[in-house]
Amino acid sequence: MIIGDQNEVTLAVLEAMEKTPDPRLRQILTLMIKHLHGFIREARLSEEEFQQACNFIVRMGQKSDVSHNEVVLMAGSLGVSSLVCLLNNGNKGQTETSASMLGPFWRLDSPITENGGSIVRSETPGPVLFVNGRVVDQDGAPISDAIIDVWQSSPEGLYENQDPNQADMNLRGQFRSDADGKFWFRSVMPAGYPIPVDGPVGDFIRAVQRPHNYRPAHVHFLIYRPGFKTLISQIYVNDDPLLDTDVQFGVTKALIGNYVRHEEGESAPVAGVQGPWYSLDYTFAMETGEAKLPRAPITGKAAQAVPVPAE
Ligand SMILES: [Fe+2]
Repeated sequence: MIIGDQNEVTLAVLEAMEKTPDPRLRQILTLMIKHLHGFIREARLSEEEFQQACNFIVRMGQKSDVSHNEVVLMAGSLGVSSLVCLLNNGNKGQTETSASMLGPFWRLDSPITENGGSIVRSETPGPVLFVNGRVVDQDGAPISDAIIDVWQSSPEGLYENQDPNQADMNLRGQFRSDADGKFWFRSVMPAGYPIPVDGPVGDFIRAVQRPHNYRPAHVHFLIYRPGFKTLISQIYVNDDPLLDTDVQFGVTKALIGNYVRHEEGESAPVAGVQGPWYSLDYTFAMETGEAKLPRAPITGKAAQAVPVPAE
């Protein structure tokens, strides 16, 4: 099609999408072109702004490697990850859900660990945390033999993949739910942490003057069991002051956990724990559906990379 004017560009591109054999891909591409062209018209995007946008996308790719995914970070910073999650869980966005976004730090093949075991794999100072989880179906019946993959930041707010001082796979582990759907393990309290702002995501956060570049403290869970939709979750620490300003827009009411502080002298589940220590009890309800694992955003550990607070 020879293009007559700006309106016809959109028609020409839409026509070019029509032969896409895969109907879902055709639908997505058609809608994307409509909205993208509509956005450019409404914003009256200038040539300089278009070049800036292209450059921004290129820089997100250049900033990404085996231990860092700037694109996932940007999707979170725009609320896109949270929106996709909430639209696809809780009976397709109709009911409360303990699903949350995957985030940029899940790694495959974390160490298989017995219930009651610890995910602290190198010296990690901080308050001890005992997690007692339960996996149930939508009727509240226990789900046994679910695989629960856990990962979290250290009390200093760093994931092992960001921190050369932590052992490989520190604060990561995989558990299996028992006949009552229960799993339990020992860890340390996670801390809130800054997302990296030395790339294009940082430019964005400064441009819109977000109050900070932090996420409130949380523990990540990914629960896999054939017959059920894989449940990806993050359970936030209830007294974290940053719950309502999460830079990644991830906090929902259902995801605020009851982390209980136990004072010195209260007996812990195992001997020798110095107080104060914490416990978290949380029940994860899985929906029936297809058990699929997401693509891991990272595959390795950083040699050196420690994110810092924004100026
Ligand atoms: Fe996280």
